[in-house]
Amino acid sequence: MKILVTGGTGYIGSHTVIELLNLGFEVDIVDNLFNSKITVLDKIESITGKRPGFFELDLLNKSGLEKIFEASKYDLVVHFAGLKAVGESVEKPLTYYENNVTGTIYLLDCMKKYCVEKIVFSSSATVYGEQDASRLTEEMQTGIGITNPYGRTKFMIEEILKDVANSDANFSAIILRYFNPIGNHPSGLIGEDPNGIPNNLMPIIMRVAQGKSPELKVYGDDYPTPDGSGVRDYIHVVDLAKGHVAAINKMKPGVEIYNLGTGRGTSVFEMIKAFEKASGEKLPFVITERRAGDLAEIFADTTKAERELGWKAKLTVGDAMKDTIRFLYGK
Ligand code: NAD
Ligand code: UD1
Repeated sequence: MKILVTGGTGYIGSHTVIELLNLGFEVDIVDNLFNSKITVLDKIESITGKRPGFFELDLLNKSGLEKIFEASKYDLVVHFAGLKAVGESVEKPLTYYENNVTGTIYLLDCMKKYCVEKIVFSSSATVYGEQDASRLTEEMQTGIGITNPYGRTKFMIEEILKDVANSDANFSAIILRYFNPIGNHPSGLIGEDPNGIPNNLMPIIMRVAQGKSPELKVYGDDYPTPDGSGVRDYIHVVDLAKGHVAAINKMKPGVEIYNLGTGRGTSVFEMIKAFEKASGEKLPFVITERRAGDLAEIFADTTKAERELGWKAKLTVGDAMKDTIRFLYGK
């Protein structure tokens, strides 16, 4: 089976490409390298012994994208390419809508033109917006209370995929709603290596550990959670990557949606302790105001993915911390 992976040199994409190559799938990557580095290809090759095909191209370059589809017959697309910085999306909403939504429309157009009918899409728990419950299930209503344009691009793309499936009985889409991906490949060769200053907890912990930031700001210790800090469902990126393989193996016409998380919540203070345990070093932190738009506690209900995909996260936050330290310090 030949698969086109958009955003395949990025954090989650590269880990998924490794799983796909290890299982014998043929993989081409299309990425504009806006938030990833070309050297990832060498690292993928040294881990798997195989080098994926690579096209440096922006999805907004529609004629270039068409040439890629014209040159090879793909069985399926795994679509990671997108901008993901929440704060930046508030400042530059049109850039986010154009890159994420228009980029996806161009991709879907090419797929239709070249008769590629299967897509796996990277969505996010952010589409759930505000809910009364902390355990989130796939059938909950989405789109209400999303606090930023990034989150709304994910919601819109989900709706677009449902409309395309309604218009075409052969179209198959699996929407994967990721919770909070952390960790990296156990080789320590690849991991989350964002260009610019990150917003998410784990890359910020990494910067503090490397001395690039003086301390971690804990955004609030007065939430209604056991220790007062925010609780999220942190999933090891290797488990997440394996979730994509499980999805690819279960594709059928129509749209299916799955949460990919561990089903367990971990607080910010527990994350700090887990990092300190794995590294043997103290992580400096200060407690600050809550961050606007943050929820107290959310975690995935993973029953549907377990039942229908036969997939379950196996690795722990402690495993992710050990792998992160290997990536940071090469040990
Ligand atoms: P990433 O930034 O590491 O990877 C995305 C890749 O897409 C990058 O290599 C970037 O250069 C590429 N890209 C972006 N726009 C492009 C375009 N127009 N044309 C071609 N390439 C383009 O991000 P990631 O963490 O690996 O996330 C992958 C996907 O998963 C994204 O769609 C993201 O929104 C989604 N997601 C991520 C998280 C998370 O916390 N990391 C959570 C939920 C959902
Ligand atoms: C954030 C985004 C969400 C996006 C997700 C993955 C916001 C409001 N939400 O979610 O839309 O889908 O990232 O990209 O930005 N924390 C700190 N200090 C920090 C950073 C984070 O205490 O410096 C806390 C947060 O308050 C939260 C937890 O750590 O409780 C996780 O934060 P983060 O990694 O940003 O993920 P989300 O809040 O789940």
